[in-house]
Amino acid sequence: MTESRTPGTWEPVEIDTSVAHSARVYDYWLGGKDNFPADRELAEQIIAAVPNMRAMARANRDFLGRAVRHLVVEQGIRQFLDIGTGIPTAGNTYEVAQALAPESRVLYVDNDPIVLAHARAMISSHPAGRTSFILGDLREPAGILEHPVFAQIIDRAQPVGLLLVAVLMLFRDAEDPWAMVRTLVDALPAGSCLALTHPSGDFAPEEVAVAVRAAEHAHVPLTPRGRAEVTRFLDGLEPVAPGVVPVLAWGGAAEGVDVDSAYYYAAVARKP
Ligand SMILES: C[S@@+](CC[C@H](N)C(=O)[O-])C[C@H]1O[C@@H](n2cnc3c(N)ncnc32)[C@H](O)[C@@H]1O
Repeated sequence: MTESRTPGTWEPVEIDTSVAHSARVYDYWLGGKDNFPADRELAEQIIAAVPNMRAMARANRDFLGRAVRHLVVEQGIRQFLDIGTGIPTAGNTYEVAQALAPESRVLYVDNDPIVLAHARAMISSHPAGRTSFILGDLREPAGILEHPVFAQIIDRAQPVGLLLVAVLMLFRDAEDPWAMVRTLVDALPAGSCLALTHPSGDFAPEEVAVAVRAAEHAHVPLTPRGRAEVTRFLDGLEPVAPGVVPVLAWGGAAEGVDVDSAYYYAAVARKP
């Protein structure tokens, strides 16, 4: 593997570890070491409310792999915009995509400087492809689309795989995350696909309500959404079978798995 990051994209950043952050809470659930006491405290409070939380985080990461495989193999997509990247672990987007199509290009976007630091250390590229990482905010999609690195990685004339895995729940309804998604999708050509997951209270409302209260107490916004609200993120797109389903059911559940045991919906949809 040859390093193929884009020079000049690593702005110096301050990291505040005194308050919990979603990327590091998630890292803790995934068994990572890139988290701090405030992150671990909230992660454990949520596990107390939702005992299967670690497996749910893993189910999300596993979906990411299945979705990227689908986008490469079935949709012919060779460039990815992965927003809300998270702290890299094995099987992240560029590894899955470039194992199948080495020429694949991936632009990672996250607003957490710790994610940036780890991406810098861990994300590389097959020499035939390209990866880069920018600090960017999903609340300002135009800033992502107009970032100078965007055009270096993403060819807007070719279909793009837009990945929004376990990130949209971090925005309140009043922030209109549907408009954020619409702005991004509108900027991409026909044949582009959106892959997302989103936690929901549909599966176990009481457990999820306790988790939301713990997160709010730690100043981490957490908005689970029902199936209809999640489906709204796909407005104007054609859902790929099996549609908006529990994350464990997307791409085929393993024998004997209770697909309702991970409280997330997942979907992939194609822009016509
Ligand atoms: C729960 S993690 C999901 C990681 C990864 N997508 C996955 O499923 O494995 C949520 C990620 O979204 C990032 N994030 C939170 N708010 C964001 C924002 N406004 N813009 C971009 N990324 C954001 C966090 O830093 C974190 O890395």
